[in-house]
Amino acid sequence: MKALYFNNFGDNSVLKYGNIQSPQINAEQILVKTQFIGLNFADIYRRRGTYHIEKHHPYINGYEALGEVVAVGSHINDFKLGDTVFFVDVPFANAEYVSVPSENAIIVPENLDPKIIASVGLQGLTADFLAHDLGKNLPGNNVFIHGISGGVGQILSQMLTSDGINVYGITSTLAKQTLALQQGAVKIFLRNTPWNQNLNGKFDTIYDGVGKTLEQSLALATNKGKVIFYGMSGGNPPKIDPIKLLNQSKSILTGDLWDYLSNAIERKKRSQRLFSYFQENKIKISEPTIFSLADGQKAYEYLESGKSAGKILLKP
Ligand SMILES: NC(=O)c1ccc[n+]([C@@H]2O[C@H](COP(=O)([O-])OP(=O)(O)OC[C@H]3O[C@@H](n4cnc5c(N)ncnc54)[C@H](OP(=O)(O)O)[C@@H]3O)[C@@H](O)[C@H]2O)c1
Repeated sequence: MKALYFNNFGDNSVLKYGNIQSPQINAEQILVKTQFIGLNFADIYRRRGTYHIEKHHPYINGYEALGEVVAVGSHINDFKLGDTVFFVDVPFANAEYVSVPSENAIIVPENLDPKIIASVGLQGLTADFLAHDLGKNLPGNNVFIHGISGGVGQILSQMLTSDGINVYGITSTLAKQTLALQQGAVKIFLRNTPWNQNLNGKFDTIYDGVGKTLEQSLALATNKGKVIFYGMSGGNPPKIDPIKLLNQSKSILTGDLWDYLSNAIERKKRSQRLFSYFQENKIKISEPTIFSLADGQKAYEYLESGKSAGKILLKP
C-alpha cells in the first residue's frame, strides 16, 4: 500500500511517500481503506520526536481517519464490509489501509457527509467533552472561549450557542471575528486591542486551550466560576497559587479526550451526541483543505505555517 512514512525524527524533509507493507488484521480488528485522513498538530510533534508515537518501522504518523470497511476479523459482529467508519485514536493512519481494533471504530450515519465527519472527528469529540463533561453550563450562562476560531473553538462555540449559552470569545483577525459572530457568538474581541477592560469577574466559565492566557482566564471568571484548561496552543501556562483560587472560590478543571474515549460504549455515545448537532444543522464548519496523501509533506508544511483555517485532510 501507499503510505506517508519516516525513518528518523526531524523537520518536514524526513517525510516520504511510497510503498510499504499493508497491515494484517486479527480476529478483533477491521481493515479500513481510508478516504480522508485528519492531520493534527500532534502529528507534527510526533514527526519532530517530541510526542508519543507508536513503534513501527518505518514510523507512520496519524491517529485519525475515515474510510470503508474492507475486511472484518472473525470475532466481529458489529461491522460489515462497506460500512463507513471513522476513528480518532488508532495509530498508522497516514496510509491507504489501517487495521483498526473494532472497539475504536465509530460507524458514520448515512445521512452525514463523510468529508464533514472526517473534518470534525477529533476536535468535535474534544468540544463535546469540554461542553458536556467539564463545562456543564446552563442556558443563560456567560462563557468565554480563547482560540474561538480554531478547530475546537468553532465547534465548541456553536455547540454552546445552540444549547442556549451566551458565548464570547477572542481571536486575532477581523475575518476570524466575523466568522465567529456568524457562528452565533454574542461578542468577539480582537487580541491586538485593549479588549479585557471591565470584563474581569464577568464569566461563569472560561475555556482556555491557549495556555499562556491562564492568569487572564482566572481574572475573567466570576467568584465560584471555573476555567477549563485543555491545551497550550499559545505556550505553557504560568504556575497558579491554589490559595488565591480558594479565596475567590474559583476552580481550574482540565481534561484529555483519551480519558473520555475509554471504551466502545463511550465512543458511540459521544459520537452520536456530536453527530446530532450536525444532523439538526446546529453546527456548520468551514470547508477542509484537502491534500493528496502523496503531497503529505505540503500538508504538514501548511499546518506548521499557521496559515490554515479549518481542518486539513489527506486523501489517499
Ligand atoms: N485536551 C484535549 O483532549 C485536547 C484535544 C484536542 C485539542 N486540544 C488542544 O486544543 C487546543 C486547540 O486545538 P485546535 O485543534 O482547535 O487548534 P487550532 O485549530 O490550531 O486552533 C488554535 C487556536 O489557538 C489560538 N492561538 C494560537 N496562538 C495563540 C496565542 N499566542 N495567543 C492566543 N491565542 C492563540 C488561535 O487563535 P487565532 O486563530 O485567533 O490566532 C487558534 O484559534 C490546542 O491547545 C490543542 O492542543 C486538546
